[in-house]
Amino acid sequence: MNNQRERWTSRTSFVIASIGSAIGLGNVWRFPYICYENGGGAFLIPYFVALLTAGIPLMILEFALGREMQAGAPSAFAKVRKGTEWIGWLALMVIMLIFFYYPVIAAWCVDYVIFSINLGWGADAKAFFESDFLQLSTGPGVLGSVRWPILLGLAVFWAGVYLCLFKGIKVLSKIVFYTVIIPWVILVIMVIRGLTLPGALEGLKFYLTPNFSALLKPGVWLAAYGQIFFTLSLAMGTMIVYSSYLPRGTDIANSSFIVSLANCGTSFFAGFAVFSTLGYLAQAMGVGVPEVTKSGLGLAFITYPTAISLLPFLPALFGVLFFVLLITLAIDSAFSAIVPYVAGFTDKWKFNTKWVLPIVCTGGFLIGIVFTTRGGLYWLDIVDYFANTFGLTLVGLLECIVIGYIYKAHKAREYVNEVSEFQIGRWWDICIMVITPIILGISFVWSLISLIQKGYGGYPIWATFVGIGIYVGIVVISFVLMTVKRKEG
Ligand code: PHE
Repeated sequence: MNNQRERWTSRTSFVIASIGSAIGLGNVWRFPYICYENGGGAFLIPYFVALLTAGIPLMILEFALGREMQAGAPSAFAKVRKGTEWIGWLALMVIMLIFFYYPVIAAWCVDYVIFSINLGWGADAKAFFESDFLQLSTGPGVLGSVRWPILLGLAVFWAGVYLCLFKGIKVLSKIVFYTVIIPWVILVIMVIRGLTLPGALEGLKFYLTPNFSALLKPGVWLAAYGQIFFTLSLAMGTMIVYSSYLPRGTDIANSSFIVSLANCGTSFFAGFAVFSTLGYLAQAMGVGVPEVTKSGLGLAFITYPTAISLLPFLPALFGVLFFVLLITLAIDSAFSAIVPYVAGFTDKWKFNTKWVLPIVCTGGFLIGIVFTTRGGLYWLDIVDYFANTFGLTLVGLLECIVIGYIYKAHKAREYVNEVSEFQIGRWWDICIMVITPIILGISFVWSLISLIQKGYGGYPIWATFVGIGIYVGIVVISFVLMTVKRKEG
């Protein structure tokens, strides 16, 4: 491939692209439900603690690693110490798993834009989502047939991703401005709409009132750290490869703070749109706010459509806006999942991007078909759990160990300080060497114990074994990819 590494057109493009990666379905769909599952307002405290002790320090670490080594995750780790290359591959394997199902959620949104036009989910959004749209089978053992509308939405989404990426980083530099600004404009409209609805205040009260007893539950803290990793696109190779397209000498510390704070600020802001609307829904249905807060995927595809149908003014418009919001959020996150992947292969074996990109996109689409079947939702849930709970925590933990102890945290910090607009202090070493690895270690062991005791999610036990099999599989593949000989030149 080209000897000259591609470059962002400016530092601003890099920062915007990283913000675009970070801000995704995680902010508007995942954050609100994780927040209310973990005590509403109480969750914000661990969330911001996690941001400061793990999110920002790891962002600095990944930006520094990519920028210094000028390579995607596997090759960057290989340059730190030879035998650690597999950690980079593991990061890519985890992101690969996530991006088999993430575009399927975007595909649902493509379909829901169309349903919004005549509020096609009717009076019972839950029945519509589960029985008419997904046609959910009885369990993960029954995949059933492919749901064509979802498959079509998936094809549209992947084609969009490919078209935005095939011209390379320079064109991407321009596109990301739109994919970041459009959702923000829509979000502002949604917040204004939400806040002017009757009952909005009740929803916000639930969102913002801290319940300090929830802070005593370890699960709340684990959820906060998990969400920070997911939402900041950390431990997946994304931020490493994005910063590898920066010229040497550009700032690291300030960019890390900007990206992390912009992302978490967006989540916080999105919470106002979501909870005010939930407050309205609760009032319209004559129930309390906690009762309308359904868990998981239900938020975007059941609870929100129900609220949209009840809007007094132009409900169809707000429906379309909401799902377009989700699509524009998802698309630049998808870019940032594909780029590290392509870079991982082209950096090591000098393949031509022209070929790797369509192969990756087609592969992603084809495997994604599993999730478009009637049993797809169950598998989406299982893969999401294993990738996030065990994948991200393991990669994050290993990153901290490699940089903190093998490369040496103080050396990395000095390097960051040489080029950054402000200096980071010793607190960074402590976060990377002690706090983050301890929390990730506890989180990993804790989840493992609960998995061994209970299996996952009430599915038949063999489904847990398939999950474990996939997980072991990606670790093995990471080692194999490390051992394949590198092409020099
Ligand atoms: N951060 C994205 C979100 O919040 C998810 C993501 C993970 C994107 C990994 C890219 C890479 O939705």
